[in-house]
Amino acid sequence: MGDGLKVAVTRRIPSVGLRMLREEFEVVLHDSDKAPGRETLLRLMSDADGAVTLLSDAIDGALLDACPRLRIVANHAVGYENVDVEAATARGIVVTNTPGVLTDATADLTMALMLAAARRIVEADRFMRVGKYEGWDPRMLRGMDLAGRTLGIFGFGRIGRAVARRAAAFGMEIIYTDTAASPEAAQQCGARRVEFDELLRQSDVLTVHSPYLPELHQRFGAAEFAAMKPTALFLNTARGKLMDEAALAAALRARQIAAAGLDVYEDEPAFRPELAAMDNVVLLPHIGSATWGTRDAMAELAARNVIEVLHARPSLTPVNEVGKS
Ligand code: 8YV
Repeated sequence: MGDGLKVAVTRRIPSVGLRMLREEFEVVLHDSDKAPGRETLLRLMSDADGAVTLLSDAIDGALLDACPRLRIVANHAVGYENVDVEAATARGIVVTNTPGVLTDATADLTMALMLAAARRIVEADRFMRVGKYEGWDPRMLRGMDLAGRTLGIFGFGRIGRAVARRAAAFGMEIIYTDTAASPEAAQQCGARRVEFDELLRQSDVLTVHSPYLPELHQRFGAAEFAAMKPTALFLNTARGKLMDEAALAAALRARQIAAAGLDVYEDEPAFRPELAAMDNVVLLPHIGSATWGTRDAMAELAARNVIEVLHARPSLTPVNEVGKS
């Protein structure tokens, strides 16, 4: 039992994680479905020894300075651009994420978006609901074949590779760009590494699977969409800030590209209102990891990271050097 130790949890996470933490520590929970504001975050975390945070919580140096006891920030996400990792490291605070456990769920959702955009599933569903189906027509609601088409993957990490494996089973050719991925990993799913401009020019479906890094801000903008095939689909289940959403909306309107499938937006929960009026884009509310099993596994991994660190043991999935020591 971690006597007298306190853990802040900034949102209702699946109960498996809360239960694990409550068995060991005093848990202060922001008992809400809405993100806490800055004041609430400070109140929750200021005397906590550990914290489970979400993507919507900005964990910066000033906030960490107000939390003198804090030893770990366990982000309930694989992405962690909401945490100033350098500031945490400088203060000896471990930062962890939840890699691995959400790979399949996110890759599955990417395939769902690919199929939905390619075969106009959402548009066809709306067509039915408003009573437009008046009889079969050989030209009705035609979409795009996937077999034999080229899938371009931007970011060939765990999720990008899981998408590649799925797409290979659909008979797609796979190309990718990544600065870090090993060629061995690519060989396993027959993927070929290309330059970024080739990825843009050759992809029939282009899907984004990179973490957000400042140098990748709006990596996909007007020029990139203009370089893509007019028949291409653009998918983003990674991070909204990797694309210029206004430029994407303009490219879709001008049919510079054929369609898009989005699970993430530049400034969530807001998104460009013009997208909602377009039939050639499928819009999802950031549900890449939203399966029962995956969200439980994320909560469990975040809780285990907190438990390990507060018992002075190494964390399981650290993203900074403090955590690796
Ligand atoms: C989650 C995500 O929906 O893990 C990530 O980086 O974007 C998603 O899995 C979200 O972060 C839940 O906290």
